[in-house]
Amino acid sequence: MKQASRHITLAIAALSTLFAAGCRQDMQDEPKFFPQRGTSFYADGRSVRPQVENTVARNQLHEDAYFYTGLTNGKEGDGLPFPVTEQVLARGQERYNVYCTPCHSRVGNGIGMIVQRGYSKAGSFHSARLETAPLGHFFHVISNGYGAMPDYSAQIVPADRWAIVAYIKALQLSQKATQADVPAGAHVEPLSSIAEREGLPSSFADAWTLPATAVTGTSDNGLYVLPVPGTAAPASGANSPAHTNSTTSAGSPAGQRAPQQ
Ligand code: HEC
Repeated sequence: MKQASRHITLAIAALSTLFAAGCRQDMQDEPKFFPQRGTSFYADGRSVRPQVENTVARNQLHEDAYFYTGLTNGKEGDGLPFPVTEQVLARGQERYNVYCTPCHSRVGNGIGMIVQRGYSKAGSFHSARLETAPLGHFFHVISNGYGAMPDYSAQIVPADRWAIVAYIKALQLSQKATQADVPAGAHVEPLSSIAEREGLPSSFADAWTLPATAVTGTSDNGLYVLPVPGTAAPASGANSPAHTNSTTSAGSPAGQRAPQQ
C-alpha cells in the first residue's frame, strides 16, 4: 500500500513537471526596456531617463569637493581632509603596498618589479620636487593618472587615496629622518653603518637590483625548491642551490639580492 501511494505521488510530480514545461509563460515577451534602445512608452522616445531635475543620486552629492578632488579653486591643495591617525597610516601603508609597490617599490624609489621588467620608469617620491609637492598633487595623480601611469580611481576609494597620500608623506620623511624627528629612546642610524655592523656587504645600503639573468627551460624554471623535511636534499640539477647561485653570480655583484618589493 505504502509503495503504491509513493508511485502515485511520483507520477503526479512527473505529470505536473511535464505540464509546467508545456505551458510557456512567455516572460521574455513582457514589455521591458533594452539598454540604449528607444521606446514608444515615453514621449521623448528615450528608454534611459534623464536625471530628475534638482535631485542628486544617493551617495553622489560630493559636497566636500576637496575630499573628492584634492583641488581648491582648481589648484592642488595642501593638507589632508581628515586627521592623520595611526590607523589612517596603517591603512595607507596596506593600500600602498597593494596598489603602488608593483611600480614604485616599497620604499618609493620608483623601481618596483614591473619597472624592473620594462615598464616606464615611475620616478622617485624622494625627488626635491615631489618632497615639496602639495598633498593634493598625490591625490590628483592617483585619481587621474599621470603620463604613463594609469589612474586608480576605480580601484581605490577617495578615503583610501588620502590614506595612501599620508603614507607617502611618511615614506618621504623616513628617508631623511634625523635624531630630532624621533621620540626619546629611538635612534636614527644610516643603513650603511647598520650593514657594516651586521657584517653585510656594503652594497646592502645601495638601491637593490634584480640579477640581470634568469634560468628558464628547466622543469621548475630555475626555482629552488626547498627539500621536504626528513628527506635528503636534491642532489643536483634543477633543484640544487648551486643552480640558483649561478643565476645570481652571472649578472650582479655577489651579495646583491632582489628586495621584497
Ligand atoms: C603600473 C605602474 C604604476 C603603478 C601601479 C603606480 N604608478 Fe605611479 N607612476 C608610474 C609611472 C610610470 C610614473 C611616471 C609617469 C610619467 O612621468 O610619465 C608614475 C608617477 C607617479 C607620481 C609622480 C607624479 C609626478 O608629479 O611626477 C606619483 C605621485 C605616483 N606615481 C603615485 C602613485 C601611487 C600613489 C600609486 C598607487 C596608488 C601609483 N603611483 C601606482 C607608474 C605606476
